[in-house]
Amino acid sequence: MSIRLHSLTKRFGTQTAVNGISFEVNRGEIVGFLGPNGAGKSTTLKMITGYLSPDAGHLEVCGIDVAKDPLTIRKKIGYLPELNPLYLDLYVREYLQFIGETHALKNIKPRIEEVIEIVGLTQESHKRIGALSKGYKQRVGLAAALLHDPDVLILDEPTTGLDPNQIQEIREVIRQQGKNKTVLFSSHILSEVEAICQRVIIIHQGNLVANDTLNNIRNGQGRPIVTVQFREDVSPEKWNALSGAIRYTRTGTNEWQFETDQADALQKQILQLALQEGLNIVSLQIENRRLESIFRSLTTASHPTT
Ligand SMILES: Nc1ncnc2c1ncn2[C@@H]1O[C@H](COP(=O)(O)OP(=O)(O)OP(=O)(O)O)[C@@H](O)[C@H]1O
Ligand SMILES: [Mg+2]
Repeated sequence: MSIRLHSLTKRFGTQTAVNGISFEVNRGEIVGFLGPNGAGKSTTLKMITGYLSPDAGHLEVCGIDVAKDPLTIRKKIGYLPELNPLYLDLYVREYLQFIGETHALKNIKPRIEEVIEIVGLTQESHKRIGALSKGYKQRVGLAAALLHDPDVLILDEPTTGLDPNQIQEIREVIRQQGKNKTVLFSSHILSEVEAICQRVIIIHQGNLVANDTLNNIRNGQGRPIVTVQFREDVSPEKWNALSGAIRYTRTGTNEWQFETDQADALQKQILQLALQEGLNIVSLQIENRRLESIFRSLTTASHPTT
């Protein structure tokens, strides 16, 4: 187990920012950490990285108790904080050299060149950090997090504010790194989480509201929908023949949506019915509920935070 949280709690004054949450992240997993603004994501990540101490609960990284040995933990973790604090006056290599020295790395120079290459910073690597665009500053932060080749990567909104091309590239870096590291990263971009994570953890008002694979979360949160558009107007009585449909709704001109537990079987039944009745299908698609609508339903209810 790379990361293990048990009943972790953090209070700020009277506010409980993180309310007894427990989860584990296994070695080699890429896990997305989601939640609305103020849910407690950054606070949790700061506790995992040893920058903030919990008020209650237990926290282990690579089998080491974070409270007992925060320095060893920092060697195991690469952390890209939310606001990516950088020394703007330093040149890229100078900064990475400084970070390498704080980790007491030997033979830093070749490693600096390696991480510059990994994060796609080569073209801009001769510049002062203050002269870099936001996306490239983010890459410097990522390079600094990777420099000591940590087992665990904790990334707080690594792609926020980047253009679509940069997002794609940073996402690819995360995916590659996830092949031999454990990655826990927070994000507000749900499509990104769907694209790179096997599992998601969702918190809301400091409470854990979901922790599962994307497939299980989708399956547990509403049935798949089959949407069919016909060329002609079809009388709804015809749908009595579709034993696979639990409910149907007209959603547009000649368009119908069927809620089902057996999407593949229902699709076959619809195609057979269309053949028998001489109906023309313009389009037919099976859609699992998207993470976005699941996220909304899990994070709009109010939870007690005492
Ligand atoms: N140092 C602090 N002092 C007081 N309150 C804090 C402090 N840090 C965080 N909080 C509060 O704790 C709650 C959780 O904040 P946190 O930064 O963890 O949220 P988040 O999920 O990362 O949100 P975002 O998506 O906006 O980054 C917020 O209500 C915030 O105001
Ligand atoms: Mg945050």
